[in-house]
Amino acid sequence: MHYCGSGKIKPVAIRKLDDISMKNKRVLLRVDFNVPEEGGRIMDDYRIRAAIPTIKAIREQGAARVILLAHRSAKKDGTAPSLQFVVPLLEELLGEDVWFVDELEKAQGAIEAAKKGGILLLENLRRDPGEEKNDSVFAKRLAVLGDVFIQEAFGVLHRKHASTVGLTQLLPAAAGPLVVHETEIITSLRDHPKHPFVAAIGGAKISTKLPLIEKLLPQVSELCLGGALANTVLRAQGVAVGRSVIEENMVETVRAINLTNTKLHVPVDVIVSKSLDGKKHVRTCGVGDVAEDEYILDIGPDTQELFGSVIGAAATAFWNGPMGLAEVVAFRGGTESVAYAFADSAAYTAVGGGDTTVYLTDLHLTEKISFISTGGGAMLKLLSGDDLPGLQALVV
Ligand code: 3PG
Repeated sequence: MHYCGSGKIKPVAIRKLDDISMKNKRVLLRVDFNVPEEGGRIMDDYRIRAAIPTIKAIREQGAARVILLAHRSAKKDGTAPSLQFVVPLLEELLGEDVWFVDELEKAQGAIEAAKKGGILLLENLRRDPGEEKNDSVFAKRLAVLGDVFIQEAFGVLHRKHASTVGLTQLLPAAAGPLVVHETEIITSLRDHPKHPFVAAIGGAKISTKLPLIEKLLPQVSELCLGGALANTVLRAQGVAVGRSVIEENMVETVRAINLTNTKLHVPVDVIVSKSLDGKKHVRTCGVGDVAEDEYILDIGPDTQELFGSVIGAAATAFWNGPMGLAEVVAFRGGTESVAYAFADSAAYTAVGGGDTTVYLTDLHLTEKISFISTGGGAMLKLLSGDDLPGLQALVV
């Protein structure tokens, strides 16, 4: 497959699932089951559903076992949550049992004991520090469990981890159909967007996204910024943001970005509160009026209108990341307004990221979006013209 389009980015080909035989092989299949969860409930199952056709296809091609590798992002306290809670839904969607392996040490025995064609899911890879370090010893411990490796986790291809890069050097490796499809759509969006091309970006993964915003700015007609990202930009502009979430060590990086660029829209008004639960002291104010003991928790109504009209005028529109602390109902209005602006838009609309699509799902708006990616940061990175290490690792 040629995944790069025109211009300065050279076309390259990556290996695909059909290039490798699955027959009687133990297939290590990397999937992205990093789904939003609340009290043990899956809040958006889009990523899990997206992987099902590939799991079934590998089985139909006569695989001896399908061993699913996946991660979940660390919680705020730094711990790596379990993946076990996805098993019931996985079993329901596949119509059969899935063997959950809670420790890597038990994986070899479980794989041997499983029936022919059996499906196993290993515990969150990030429970081992070797995963995120792309540690070769950890990659080898995974590699001995399989005969071939299929990469189907588009959402994590921007990370250089053992399960995105290390494993591809140890086993015959290829991209699954979802990775191929998403890569093709996003690269064609990157190379041939219809203008005006508008991006709406929010969320909390500041250090991942800020450098990409700088790259995206020259390509887009307008860029609307919300969420914790916008707080950091406001702070770099010298605006008081009270106790808001910002990444202090990114402030200098942000200053290097041309903040006076007229394409860049930051909030003009915000929803603030002294507490994060949305139960008291919630008020709307101009960006200059945030008190020292307040947090910025959402974009305000004037900003919603501004972003809505910018999105409404787009021919191509891309969205990644909530506009505020949207998991709390009181701070969800800005994110919902962007969701509606995208759903109502006549533009080609592309949305990515588990913490973004959950709101489209909640509002029953997914059908109104032209393309929903399983990736957030990965989509943003590919769109901004950067290479994805996990994709480069599959180049023929
Ligand atoms: C995502 O949610 O964007 C992907 O699953 C990657 O997760 P990460 O940001 O924790 O690497």
